[in-house]
Amino acid sequence: MALRKLVPMNYMLADAEKGGYAVGAFNINDMAGVQAVVQAAEEERSPVIIQMYTSGIDLVGARYIAAVAETAAQNSNVPVVLHLDHGSDLEAVRACIEAGFSSVMIDCSKLPLAENMEITQKAVQMAHAAGISAEAELGKVGSGSQEMPAADKQRFLTDPEEARQFVEQTGVDALAIAIGSAHGLYEFTPDLDFDRLKAIQNSTETYLVLHGGSDLPEDQIRRAVKLGITKINVATDLSGAYSAALRKVVAASQGIIWPGRVFGAVREAMKELIRERIRLFGSSGMAD
Ligand code: 13P
Repeated sequence: MALRKLVPMNYMLADAEKGGYAVGAFNINDMAGVQAVVQAAEEERSPVIIQMYTSGIDLVGARYIAAVAETAAQNSNVPVVLHLDHGSDLEAVRACIEAGFSSVMIDCSKLPLAENMEITQKAVQMAHAAGISAEAELGKVGSGSQEMPAADKQRFLTDPEEARQFVEQTGVDALAIAIGSAHGLYEFTPDLDFDRLKAIQNSTETYLVLHGGSDLPEDQIRRAVKLGITKINVATDLSGAYSAALRKVVAASQGIIWPGRVFGAVREAMKELIRERIRLFGSSGMAD
């Protein structure tokens, strides 16, 4: 088996752009998550992105998770990225770079544009100096629990001209854009702004990322991929699969709950969900 290490994200997304598919980026928290992502990708022969929120990294430690992901990548023969998701400051970015992550996101989207650009530019320089890639965010990806009022859309969704400036000035490899998707489960019917996506795609030279990939109608995901989205983030649906499997083990257990049974059950449930998403995003078979 060929040995490969964690790869930077920009190479993977370049292939995705050429091939007309998106790579799934799955938020995990532990070794069961790492194994679920990499085993699912192997079974689908797909490139894949393992990613973590800073809350998960704070819990397990960047070096631990990087060592686990590196082992998983070395033992697999599909391309694997380990990515920091929503890094809130340059310290978080630096810690993950030093730990061996192969990609980082800096998210200063809540700050005014000039500050977002300034901090992003520094994060990009740090990532590129280490030979890895960087993602940033422009606009506001909302929450599924609350629909964005129509009047706020113009203000909060990503502006194509701002995106052009942002990418030119920061040199960021991938850009998370706000086009109407939201984190968490939707309590309203999502309606992605495809005209905005087309305009952003036409105005920028970067890989476009769709956050809030859980619970989105499949036809909207397919259309977004056709229009140039090359990375799709999935966290909530994966936690849903984990939760259902955990509840099943707990319900079937009397007295002591064996951790090994939990580990196996949640890993298999996550794996099944990840395989489905990989097929939906069109990256199945693209590792070969
Ligand atoms: P979901 O909550 O829709 O899974 O979104 C996850 C995400 O975008 C992580 O950055």
